[in-house]
Amino acid sequence: MVTRTVDLRSDTVTKPTEAMRAAMANADVDDDVLGVDPTAYRFEAEMAKVMGKEAALFVPSGTMGNLISVLVHCEIRGSEVILGDNSHIHVYENGGISTIGNVHSKTVKNNSDGTMDISLIEASIRDPEEELYYPTTRLICLENTHANCGGRCLTVEYTNKVGEVAKKHGLKLHIDGARIFNASTALGVPVSKLVQAADSVSVCLSKGLGAPIGSVIVGSKSFIAKAKRLRKTLGGGMRQVGILCAAAYVALHENVGKLEDDHKKTKILADGINQIKELSIDMSSIETNIIFFDILEGSNVTVEKLVQFLEKHGILVMPASSSSIRLVLHHQISECDVQYTLSCIQQAVQLQVENVRN
Ligand SMILES: Cc1ncc(COP(=O)(O)O)c(C=O)c1O
Repeated sequence: MVTRTVDLRSDTVTKPTEAMRAAMANADVDDDVLGVDPTAYRFEAEMAKVMGKEAALFVPSGTMGNLISVLVHCEIRGSEVILGDNSHIHVYENGGISTIGNVHSKTVKNNSDGTMDISLIEASIRDPEEELYYPTTRLICLENTHANCGGRCLTVEYTNKVGEVAKKHGLKLHIDGARIFNASTALGVPVSKLVQAADSVSVCLSKGLGAPIGSVIVGSKSFIAKAKRLRKTLGGGMRQVGILCAAAYVALHENVGKLEDDHKKTKILADGINQIKELSIDMSSIETNIIFFDILEGSNVTVEKLVQFLEKHGILVMPASSSSIRLVLHHQISECDVQYTLSCIQQAVQLQVENVRN
């Protein structure tokens, strides 16, 4: 029986550390809906400072952080947002910005590096003062790192260029920064510089940073005041939320420094997988903690059998399509786990190839 578990399904699967549990147990709390939870106050102030914005707001999830941000920027009926066709907001958030917010989406093709061509963004901007038929563009959304593009990073230069386009046309810029600390680590730039051009950013605490629950949105004081009201509307106002903020505070201080190591281990694992004849990875896409690998056509290896074999050996992964698998590393994956995973993938592939031959 296998007792070891290597959970590579996502970086959301981490368990709170002892330090987080201790901080939660000892947190000084009060009613945050009344605005008097000292731990939430301290954490939000710290996040605003780190991100270089005026104010911050703790929210239960990244999905709610994005939804609130889009709705605040698009509060006028008939608003449209420009966003990537492969972005998390567009693909995985239940279409909430349209079903709940009445915001219309104008998608622009995401390139494999997570960018959208600036010329395509600019060509997508619509102004009904010139045309009776169109919704009004009010917002552009970027995603950094871009999850579906394999955790690739948008640079300061690119983000600033999109910011300039937004400014030129009187639009706002929101960044889905679920993994923005992974981007800042990989690019070697302070996170505040990376989001300087943005009017708002949503940052997940429960992904690379390893906190058990929560996200934070940051922006101007007036943006956060509106966001707070919407958070309450959506049922996201939580009472003694300092319990969660205490763990998030530890995550911020303990785990940002571990991301570089996560990225190194990701490269080692990706490199090893890429050397298996039947599998392939675009190594240029490995910038942070996410790997998508493909099974080569005609190799007789199947996603289903590979996933089953790995699961039997305690390794949990996420099928991404009928011929590809996603792996995500995090601070609770050791070098030893990486080597174990690699050797299990090698065995699984070899077994499937031999079974077909026999
Ligand atoms: C890029 C990105 N944005 C937003 C989210 C949503 O976060 P949550 O699961 O906390 O709602 C995710 C979740 O995986 C994500 O990967």
